[in-house]
Amino acid sequence: MEKLLIKKSSRLNGKIIVNGSKNSALPIMAASLLSNQDCILKNVPNLIDIHTMISLLKKLGVSCKIKDKKITLNASNIKNFKADYELVSKMRASILVLGPLLARTGRAVVSLPGGCAIGTRPINIHLFGMEKLGAKILIKNGYVYAEAKNGLKGNNIVLPSISVGATENILLAATLSKGISIIENAATEPEVQDLCKFLNNMGSIIKGIGTRRLIIKGKTKLKSVEHSIIPDRIVAGTFIIAALITKGNLIIENIITKHLDTPLRILKKMGANIKTNKNSIIVKGEKTKLKSINIKTNPYPSFPTDLQAQFMSLFTTIKGTSTIQENIFENRFMHVSELNRLGAKISVKKDKATIIGVKKLVGASVMASDLRASVSLILAGLVAEGETRVNRIYHLDRGYEKIENKLNPCGAIIKRIK
Ligand code: EPZ
Repeated sequence: MEKLLIKKSSRLNGKIIVNGSKNSALPIMAASLLSNQDCILKNVPNLIDIHTMISLLKKLGVSCKIKDKKITLNASNIKNFKADYELVSKMRASILVLGPLLARTGRAVVSLPGGCAIGTRPINIHLFGMEKLGAKILIKNGYVYAEAKNGLKGNNIVLPSISVGATENILLAATLSKGISIIENAATEPEVQDLCKFLNNMGSIIKGIGTRRLIIKGKTKLKSVEHSIIPDRIVAGTFIIAALITKGNLIIENIITKHLDTPLRILKKMGANIKTNKNSIIVKGEKTKLKSINIKTNPYPSFPTDLQAQFMSLFTTIKGTSTIQENIFENRFMHVSELNRLGAKISVKKDKATIIGVKKLVGASVMASDLRASVSLILAGLVAEGETRVNRIYHLDRGYEKIENKLNPCGAIIKRIK
């Protein structure tokens, strides 16, 4: 099991280029199942989850060629309809092959993803959408058996609550359904918008992109497409926190700044010195005295749950009391006990964490639990006295390209050990 050893680092200083978005690449890769022509994806991040999705698509019969950060997928000969437990249990986003497989071939057998560290993560809304499009759904022995012998039929679908994955799965299925589908209460995350643009480039007709009401005109065939994945706003947000927590100065490039509007507004309200251009952000952490604040996570365009743990690390060293209300996942405070092992003063009551700023953190051995919790421990390790050892960093590599290779050139002291 690999670990990361992090020594108290000096103020970070330098430039970081942000990689493509994991949460945009995954549904777009699943969308390749909808066409029998080449889908060429650029700016794909090099992450464990991407390779897991490639293994899954290959098992379904999709050909896949990788060259640098470019992936060419071709699903002209789908020979399998089953997404097995061992792959789905490694990556929940595997459930996103359900919609396209069903729409393209009329059947799909996908393992139930099961829960994960941050919550039970049910897929009832995904299945609700498939049934609204005319699929027959049966759940047996931990698998979803979905069938649509005469193809899917467009429908009006009002989602009971906002779900990124369910919006994406239903979108994918609706593009090859007969007639018009309307998805009400749709998620509007940039990754959902990127998927809509990708599908329209394949020949779909999706209207209302970026709104809670998506209108999809079903087609019989979708064509070849070349698409560059949007930059990862959560990775970008993580590096902004790295600059602020070490009181360093970082230039963060290759991002779409407007995707971070809410987190940036909050940081500026706290007194952070941040200059933004369209595709880059300059963070001047030096000489900044940040004020404590109260935040809550909600669906885009509100504050993203995927930056909650990173902001919590920053709050641990800010004088005063900050609070974080987690409204998306029921168990996304696994990093709290680990941060407290570093000397933080955080208490949790139901879905609310209260963070009392401390003068300093002290390095210790801590355990990563989920992707974003892992990175919050690294951020804290950058400023904790002495050395912090983060165990189980396979969680981290699912969402961050070798983070030490991005932070060490800017002055961090992070070592990966077997
Ligand atoms: C996506 O997960 C992201 N993953 C998550 O990022 C992100 O935290 C989440 O959206 C919220 O923004 C990918 O895009 C691969 P949801 P998803 O469906 O689609 C409940 C990361 O760190 N729900 O929007 O699974 C669910 O339990 C990951 O990169 C149902 O009840 O999230 C949760 O409470 C972590 N029934 C809420 O909705 C359903 O059928 C939002 O979940 C589906 C979801």
